[in-house]
Amino acid sequence: MTIGYSGAEKIDDLLDPAQGLVSRHVFSDPAIYEMELQRIFARCWQFLGHESQVPRPGDFVSAYLGEDPVMLVRQDDGSLAAFLNVCRHRGMRICKLDAGNAAGFSCSYHGWAYDRRGKIVDVPFGEMYENAPLDDSWAAVPVAQVASYKGLIFGTFDPDAPSLVEYLGDMAYYLDVLVDRREGGTELVGGANKWIIDSNWKYGAENFVQDGHHAFASHISALMAVQPDEAEVTDFPGGCTVSPGSGHGGGWFEGPTLEMVVRDPVLLRYHQDVVRPESIRRLGADRDPVHNVAAFTVFPNFSFLTGVQTIRVWVPRGPNHMEVRSWTIVDKAAPQEVKDAQLRLVRTTFSPSGILEQDDGENWSMCQDTMRGHVSRQLNSNMRMGMGKRVDADIAVPGRVMHGWNEEPGRGFFERYRHLMSEPTSRAWLER
Ligand code: FES
Ligand SMILES: [Fe+2]
Repeated sequence: MTIGYSGAEKIDDLLDPAQGLVSRHVFSDPAIYEMELQRIFARCWQFLGHESQVPRPGDFVSAYLGEDPVMLVRQDDGSLAAFLNVCRHRGMRICKLDAGNAAGFSCSYHGWAYDRRGKIVDVPFGEMYENAPLDDSWAAVPVAQVASYKGLIFGTFDPDAPSLVEYLGDMAYYLDVLVDRREGGTELVGGANKWIIDSNWKYGAENFVQDGHHAFASHISALMAVQPDEAEVTDFPGGCTVSPGSGHGGGWFEGPTLEMVVRDPVLLRYHQDVVRPESIRRLGADRDPVHNVAAFTVFPNFSFLTGVQTIRVWVPRGPNHMEVRSWTIVDKAAPQEVKDAQLRLVRTTFSPSGILEQDDGENWSMCQDTMRGHVSRQLNSNMRMGMGKRVDADIAVPGRVMHGWNEEPGRGFFERYRHLMSEPTSRAWLER
């Protein structure tokens, strides 16, 4: 046990993912957090928005890459561009709105005006810049790469990062269960929910990358409350996890969990009669179990729940806080009553007031709170569940699959995290 850790340069000493040991310093140390902003969030692909939010030229949404505010804007030629939402004059946000449609953007501080690509097109008292022209080097800082995967738009500041498809790798196979299960794709409904949890961003990411088994202790009372009177939850469903590589991962329940969580008959019928048969036709039967309430994280901080149909970003807000930004995602082809029911389901389960979300937020913020203690902070988190167990190959899906609840994907998440945190150059993208 190291007493008095005070620097990020020895990240290797703090993480031994192969042994399932993760020092709690990585959840609480300010120096490590600063390093994350540079080595994780200024480099990795992160979720910016959904195609359905920006269908027409001039449509925009605000987002974050780490703590950097960015704007995603649909261009006149139909392409997508994103840039840092920071005015080059004094650093005010170029646009204060979350979403809208605009011919351009005018900073509310001194009025510098930018076009849809982030180029400066006008400044008040422009003649006074005669000897210090505002050329293109003063444009808003572009997001180096922006790409869409079947409706989900991601961006990265790192021009050397692999393409989005390469970055996702086998994770795309599991994303398809969310975004490609029906003809016509998906759309977001109901706008964003945003709230702050007093907890490090990795608590959310790690929970969705592997932690189906917490539901047994954390959520059982909430689940019992929504069961019919005669029902008892005596056998908690088993689970299966997958590590598709590159820090991504997830897991799904192997029992009838969908029926436990989704109580609305309209949604259950839609899922049973429409989604599953069409999905099996489109994606094959191997992915069918993933429909049964599955949680996944795309490294580092984009997570989703199939069945419930929520997607979210765990935006870092300092070592001790995260901002959750979440949306409801539905099949475009679904009838309106199904879309409405899906939105109701997300609002009542996985939203700031949702019966399941509140359990999670309380756990994560209390975990964070205990790290205020000097001695508590020195401890390792135990991610050793399922260590040494056989990786199963009995189902034909990509990645390292393990039956039975286990923490293998979390070990993969922190392996990837350690790798990126210890390699500041673009070599990090080659040595995976
Ligand atoms: S800060 Fe934007 S115009 Fe001055
Ligand atoms: Fe949970």
